[in-house]
Amino acid sequence: MSRLPSGARADVLVIGGGIIGLAVAWRAAQRGLRNVIVVDPSPGGGAARVAAGMLAPVTELQYGEEPLLRLGMASNERYAAFAAELTEASGGLDTGYRRCGTVAVALDSDDREELRELHAFHRRLGLDSTWLTGREARRLEPMLAPGVRGGLHVAEDHQVDGRRLLKALLLACERAGVSIRPAEAVELLVENGRATGARLSTQETVTAEQVLLAAGPHSHRLPGLPEGALPAIRPVKGQVLRLRIPDAYRPFLSRNVRAVVRGRHLYLVPRENGELVVGATTEEQGYDTTVTAGGVYELLRDAHELVPGITELPLLETSAGLRPGSPDNAPLLGPTSVPGLVAATGHYRNGVLLTPVTADLVAEYLATGEVPEPARPFTPLRFSPDRSTTKASA
Ligand code: GLY
Repeated sequence: MSRLPSGARADVLVIGGGIIGLAVAWRAAQRGLRNVIVVDPSPGGGAARVAAGMLAPVTELQYGEEPLLRLGMASNERYAAFAAELTEASGGLDTGYRRCGTVAVALDSDDREELRELHAFHRRLGLDSTWLTGREARRLEPMLAPGVRGGLHVAEDHQVDGRRLLKALLLACERAGVSIRPAEAVELLVENGRATGARLSTQETVTAEQVLLAAGPHSHRLPGLPEGALPAIRPVKGQVLRLRIPDAYRPFLSRNVRAVVRGRHLYLVPRENGELVVGATTEEQGYDTTVTAGGVYELLRDAHELVPGITELPLLETSAGLRPGSPDNAPLLGPTSVPGLVAATGHYRNGVLLTPVTADLVAEYLATGEVPEPARPFTPLRFSPDRSTTKASA
C-alpha cells in the first residue's frame, strides 16, 4: 500500500475502504481525478466480506421501492462488464460473478400467497418472472424439500463473490494510482462551512478538494460532521453461514434459492467453487457483530426445512456483518448540504448489487460536479430539514 507524506493533499479523500468506497475511488481515478486517497482501518473489509453476494433486484423487490428497483436493475445490467473490467484491471483476479438466476419458493400456503402477490407485482412492472408449481420448482432444483408449494423463477437475478470483488478492487485501485491508507479518519475538517479534509488516527491530516463519506453505518458518526449533514445510518446485523459442497454432492443447487420462512428472509447461494452461503438474520441491536448460537440455529433450521440435505454438508464458517440502513432504506448518493462533502452510503441490503452503478454515478459527480439523472432520487438532501418533501421511494 502506498505511503503518504504527512499533510497530504488529495483531489478526493474517500473515508471508508469497503466495497463502495473502493469502487468509487477506482472509477474516480479512471476519470482522471489525480490524487485519490482512501482511508480505512481495515481496507477491503465491511459488510461485503460477509454478504452472500446475491444480485437480486427482482426477487428482493419490496412494495413502494420502484426507484430502488430501477437503480438495482441498472446496476445488475452493468455487472458483467464491471466484473470483466475488474478482472482485467487486477491482472486476472476472478470476481465470482455467475449468471445463474434465482428461484424463490414457498413452504406453506401463506408463503405461496405472498409469492403470488410478488409475482403479480412483477408482472405489473413488466419484469421477467415465471410462476412455478412445487413440482416445477423441484424439477429445477431437485434438492428442494418435497413440501415446497410453488415459487418463482427469475432468470436475471445472479450472484458475485464479495470477498473476491474486494480483493480485485484493492488491486485495481492500487494499479490505478489510488493511495490506500490503513488508518481511521478521526475528524472531518471543515473550514468556513466547507469540508476540506480529515485528521487521521496517525495524527496526519489529509486536505482534499472533495471528501467522500463511504463508511457504511459509521458514516454519520465521524466527529466534526456538521449537524444535519447526514441522517443516522443504522447498523442492521446479518449473520451468515458458509458450508462446503463436496464434489460427490454437486451440483447440489444450480442457482440461488430463496424463501420467506415464518416471515424471515432466507437464501442459499451456491458458488462455482463449491462454497454454499446461507443467509441471513436481520437484527437491529447496535454495532454488535457477535455470531450467536440462536442466529446459527435459526438459519440452519430454516435452511433444513427448505433443503433438507444441507445438514450433510461441512460447516466452514459463521460470520456477521452490519448492513448500513438509511431512514428510508435507500442509498445516499451525491452531494450533501455541506459543500465539498459527498456521500455514498446507506445501501442497506443492496450494497454489493449497487456497487457498479454507485461507482459510476458518484465518480461522475466527483469529476464533473453534475449529479447524473439516475442518482437524483437518491440525493442525501432528501433528509435535510428544508428538503423533506424529496423522497427516494415514492
Ligand atoms: N441482500 C441480502 C441481505 O441483506 O441479507
